[in-house]
Amino acid sequence: MSSVIFSRWMASQKPRAHTMRSAPAFYRNLEEALDVRRKDHGLYTLIKNTWAEGATADFCSNDSLSFGASGRLRKAFEEELARNSSAQLGAGGSRLMDGNYDYIEAVEQEIADYHGVEAALIVGSGCDGNYAIFEGIPRPGDAIIYDELVHASIVDGMSRSLASTKVSFAHNDIDAFREALISVWDSQPLIKQGKKCVLIVVESFYSMEGDMSPLKELVQAAKEIFPAGNAQFIVDEAHSMGVVGERGLGFVEALGLDSEIAIKTHTFSKAFGSIGGVILGNHTVKNALVNFSRSTVFTAAPAFHQVAAIRAGYTLMPQPETKAGRDNIQHLVKRLFTKITAHPIWEEANDRNIISIPVSEDWEERNFQTQLVPLWTRERYGHWLTFHLDARKYSAFPVTFPVVPKGSARLRVVIHADHSEEQIDGLVAAICEWAEEMVQIETGTGGRGKVPWAAQQVYALTDEEGVNGAANKVTANGV
Ligand SMILES: Cc1ncc(COP(=O)(O)O)c(C=O)c1O
Repeated sequence: MSSVIFSRWMASQKPRAHTMRSAPAFYRNLEEALDVRRKDHGLYTLIKNTWAEGATADFCSNDSLSFGASGRLRKAFEEELARNSSAQLGAGGSRLMDGNYDYIEAVEQEIADYHGVEAALIVGSGCDGNYAIFEGIPRPGDAIIYDELVHASIVDGMSRSLASTKVSFAHNDIDAFREALISVWDSQPLIKQGKKCVLIVVESFYSMEGDMSPLKELVQAAKEIFPAGNAQFIVDEAHSMGVVGERGLGFVEALGLDSEIAIKTHTFSKAFGSIGGVILGNHTVKNALVNFSRSTVFTAAPAFHQVAAIRAGYTLMPQPETKAGRDNIQHLVKRLFTKITAHPIWEEANDRNIISIPVSEDWEERNFQTQLVPLWTRERYGHWLTFHLDARKYSAFPVTFPVVPKGSARLRVVIHADHSEEQIDGLVAAICEWAEEMVQIETGTGGRGKVPWAAQQVYALTDEEGVNGAANKVTANGV
């Protein structure tokens, strides 16, 4: 079954524009643009993941607390619906006009209280939250300093902002961050005088790297360089929400930095298993968002059922099962690191640049781990590893160009609360089995051909389906 999905995916990477010479320019031009992606095997297709059909174990989705897979969220949601059986589904308009309603206001206040902040604004998604923040918060003359790997929605939000200066710093690099702060201090007299502000933007967990922000050090540096307090932090907690912190409130809570952060965005599409986002801050921040953010003003308010699912997620947070799930994630990530790095093939596969896990290198120095474990591999090998894991019944997400820069392909493994030790051990065995095969292919030992067996299966099916798979085949030497 899985091979069929992958062979269809392979087939979809076949260039099309040249077959459309007589088609209207409108479609031909679009196909030409899509062909650029196909050339790198980078065309996104709307395939259904194999874990969704029960064919593989889900090491792929962001359902990290297993709220979705366990059915716990659905049950809590149904109970919430039953408690509000007369609520209308649609908000009926923008928050600023007809779309404000008691239920959303009550839930916002509950969320604010739960997080220990003054105010919360629920928005349609994490993306919408980031657009809203950067449209509404920076004032003319302010500067934004941001980690170079922040999410696309932050980048897009910043492009709509009124900030006069935007400076990126090398990912998680404290020296580069200090340099960026000093450059703004030196070049912006109004900021130096404390009349305008520096907004510092980071994520808590970076999902494609699997690492976390050195937030404590960044806060310390900002205080030293801007003692007047006009440097303020905005932290995107998309992937840490629910997963870390004493009450599962995220990275800022886990580090005890709540009083240092002006604005936090949490998304409910990851560990909370539903959809939506919330921006946490004080009343001034909320008022500014409501007034200045075009993406809040010119859209309908989040609907009742969306807010009800969010509230249902919060009802699960204090349950002992949720805390046990968080602890299990920590335990399993460490188990994965320990087992894989102790495997006999690991060192050679690592030395040959076949596979590596940078976040496994210094895990003992961290107080906690992220649930995100990217397996870095050679460009093109990412697909082969995906095919192999899938054949062994593990689903993980291949990330290649254009999502990440060329030459930095990886497979993102996401550890969930309901995974077991046996599954982790099985996953490690499958990864290492593939690594061993690749070592044999590269060294010409073991009587292997040039293409690993799982990929051969996919290619064979691609050919069988008559979609000229050969044109799309990848070999160890490239396309
Ligand atoms: C850091 C970060 N922020 C925001 C988002 C967007 O979240 P949503 O899916 O709720 O729009 C994502 C999603 O991948 C993310 O990783």
